Amino acid sequence: MLLTAKKRYIGTLSGAGFCGVTDGAGMGDFFDGTNNEKKQMSVTTNETGEAVSLKRKKLKKIGVLTSGGDAPGMNAAIRAVTRAAIANKLKVTGIRRGYQGMIEGDFIPLKSSDVGGILQLGGTMLKTARSLEFRTAEGRQKAYQQLKKAEIDAVVVIGGDGSFTGALVMSQEYDISFVGIPATIDNDMYGTDYTIGYETALNSVVEAVDKIKDTARSHGRIFFVEVMGHEAGLLALTSGIACGAEVILIPESKEQIEELKKFLKKGYKNRETSGIIMVAEGDETGGAVKIAEEVRKKHPELDVRVSILGHIQRGGSPVANDRVNATKMGVAAVDALLDDQKSIMVGLNNHALVHVPFNKAVKLNHSIDTHLLDIHRLLNV
Ligand code: F6P
Repeated sequence: MLLTAKKRYIGTLSGAGFCGVTDGAGMGDFFDGTNNEKKQMSVTTNETGEAVSLKRKKLKKIGVLTSGGDAPGMNAAIRAVTRAAIANKLKVTGIRRGYQGMIEGDFIPLKSSDVGGILQLGGTMLKTARSLEFRTAEGRQKAYQQLKKAEIDAVVVIGGDGSFTGALVMSQEYDISFVGIPATIDNDMYGTDYTIGYETALNSVVEAVDKIKDTARSHGRIFFVEVMGHEAGLLALTSGIACGAEVILIPESKEQIEELKKFLKKGYKNRETSGIIMVAEGDETGGAVKIAEEVRKKHPELDVRVSILGHIQRGGSPVANDRVNATKMGVAAVDALLDDQKSIMVGLNNHALVHVPFNKAVKLNHSIDTHLLDIHRLLNV
């Protein structure tokens, strides 16, 4: 009868200050009231509508990994996951080099002291990788065998959409729970306003462009500055606003090329010969080198330079907000696993912690706030 029972979800609130569930499934949790250990239970209804309890396998050991491009604040998240798990009497295993390390069994036990002194460090102490082998069924089978051998019941994945896609596929094939923490400087995940590392990267871009502006002004040059973000333009947009860039080219808006034409025209009329054009690497113009080349051909009188900021944007000590949010999300991820959640990403929506199902987080696009573009145009008089 239990097998056919329909789940009825009830509110789930516990220690980490967790609040909302967006589009996701909540699960009732019950404390035994003695040693703060949670017994995993779901509340279900049988065919006659009566509530019945279903005892879940008790969580004993979790794994934590970082995957995809590193992002400042990943270490803060590893620390929070590890310590929140230990505080809840769980054992923790660090999985090195993302899914590739999972396949190879590159595991290290993590104690509280192992994650001391890392909060302020950029990069990831667990290292990261983009694993091609994990995309194959054989690779995932090897990974599952390694997790079973190490008696890992659930995994916290700190990464971006590629990392969560991998987790989603494996959770559909094997009995392993995954909870994700969004970490990418691109800030392009659906369902969360924020991803770990974005704030630090934004500040790094602003610092670099402020310096470029000094030389641009001195020489009367126009700089095309290429900003990372993969297919998303948020980092270019917000850094462009923060730096007072003349034009911002992002994949989410095709109209921006007209802004560039306007600027170039206005540029010589007013003898304003210096300027910053922010170019998102994913913009359809094809990046800073390409668009600068076209501008040089059309306007040989202009002194044009290109600066590709590159991986400098991914490094550095995380700013305070990245540390705080990574810590909140790390605790929330462990809490979600204790609440028997699986295949969800923890996120921040209007500053509130939310759960977003993996299948939505990876399949839907994060949209940018077009109001920011309107503001930029308005001020560019
Ligand atoms: O997703 C983070 C990111 O830095 C993107 O902005 C960029 O397109 C990509 O990773 C670069 O990846 P890699 O370091 O593998 O070249």
